[in-house]
Amino acid sequence: MAVDVRFLGHSAFHISGAGADVLVDPFLTGKPKAAATADEVPADVILITHGHGDHLGDTVAIVELADEISNAGVENVRDPNYGGTEQFDWGWARMVQAFHTNTAPDGTAVGQAAGYVINIGGTTIYHAGDTCLFGDMKLIAQRGDKVDLALVPIGGHYTMDRYDAVTAVELINPQQVIPIHYNTFPPVETDAEAFKQDVQNAGFSEVVIVQPGETHHVR
Ligand code: NI
Ligand code: MN
Repeated sequence: MAVDVRFLGHSAFHISGAGADVLVDPFLTGKPKAAATADEVPADVILITHGHGDHLGDTVAIVELADEISNAGVENVRDPNYGGTEQFDWGWARMVQAFHTNTAPDGTAVGQAAGYVINIGGTTIYHAGDTCLFGDMKLIAQRGDKVDLALVPIGGHYTMDRYDAVTAVELINPQQVIPIHYNTFPPVETDAEAFKQDVQNAGFSEVVIVQPGETHHVR
């Protein structure tokens, strides 16, 4: 099954396959290097890892837009917690643990952030969200089919840095990796090419550096 993964910058992705368009963390408006605007991205489902502005982003605008376009209305809001698997026509998405705080748009602290394991048309994608390195990444990734594509933060400061991310890749053992959550703002600047060399020299996985706006075709 062909799955296209379009990087919209930072942690945002437009994943299309099995006849569906899935958005993850659509922070677009006001983002340096934004690759699309809220009215340019189709969405059957939007997966949100947590409420920080650089992830929740344009979710409400996109949903309202979808509501306007389609008389059928938008899909209901679902509220899985860690370990919960949501079934869709195109596959499923499981909410998994991430070690990171969470805040509602009004600034209220509301617990922890999440990651997702997404199965779209038989292709397995692990979006780690915002997180530090933790050992159960291995457990999350070994449950079920081998991870075809891992999306891991490498920017440091708010998440793990590119050095811890190498170990994360070792634990997840995916076919391919796309680094995320770096070079958007000064605190998360890092050397993605060095991360790629470290991972590939260790023989852990193939690293694909995708620029905002580019699409990666998952094998
Ligand atoms: Ni965050
Ligand atoms: Mn973030």
